[in-house]
Amino acid sequence: MARVKLKRFRVKEPSAQAKARYMRSYSGRDLHFRPAELPPITSEELFGVSAPLVLDLGCGRGEFLTRQAQQRPSDCFVGFDWHRKSIWDAINRAEAAGVDNVRFVQADFRQALRLVPENAAAEVHMLFPPPILKRSKRKQDPLTERALRELHRVLAVGGLFHFVTDSEPYFRLKLAMIAQSDLFELETEAHGFEGGQTRFQRFWEQFNIPTHRAVLRKPPPR
Ligand SMILES: C[S@@+](CC[C@H](N)C(=O)[O-])C[C@H]1O[C@@H](n2cnc3c(N)ncnc32)[C@H](O)[C@@H]1O
Repeated sequence: MARVKLKRFRVKEPSAQAKARYMRSYSGRDLHFRPAELPPITSEELFGVSAPLVLDLGCGRGEFLTRQAQQRPSDCFVGFDWHRKSIWDAINRAEAAGVDNVRFVQADFRQALRLVPENAAAEVHMLFPPPILKRSKRKQDPLTERALRELHRVLAVGGLFHFVTDSEPYFRLKLAMIAQSDLFELETEAHGFEGGQTRFQRFWEQFNIPTHRAVLRKPPPR
């Protein structure tokens, strides 16, 4: 099935106060040339508390993360997406839910991860990334070897990386890359219908396309 334009939707621009509360935005230029001058992405810096930090890479419209923030009030959640309308929608959703333990970063997460200190994240989620399979498009691949190494760096020892996709070839390709990297231990691998926990999952499951999920643990240094 051709991948459709799920990014076409109407969204109200959040108020200046809501943006100031929930949103951080970084240009590729700043992330590349002066990352050391930008504030770190930590629970302490963004929320003023010392609490487990959970990252969602490519959070889309923030449904998953806002729900998690409601269900786990003592954890801190940060979603990354480079699509401005999705970030705005995520901010509106978080504000309507009245949660204060979630923030959204508008940036390319492959670059923005360098603002997250080593071992700072308790959990990382990558849910339904665009499954880039063609070599000619590899610059758009969200899970390159370099991104995987960054993800491993920011994850605490024992922390979990949840990787979920509707594309079996992408799943196989990335699990092979992860196995070869020797950076993670595979905790679980599952294939099936999970009842649409995110917008994209609901979309693909209505066409009988199952979800492929891997949960990977960062082991202690060998
Ligand atoms: C198919 S959507 C999935 C959204 C959400 N995780 C869900 O399951 O509903 C993929 C999202 O990843 C974002 N994305 C892809 N590559 C990205 C990157 N390098 N940096 C930031 N966002 C990215 C896209 O803008 C899009 O919102």
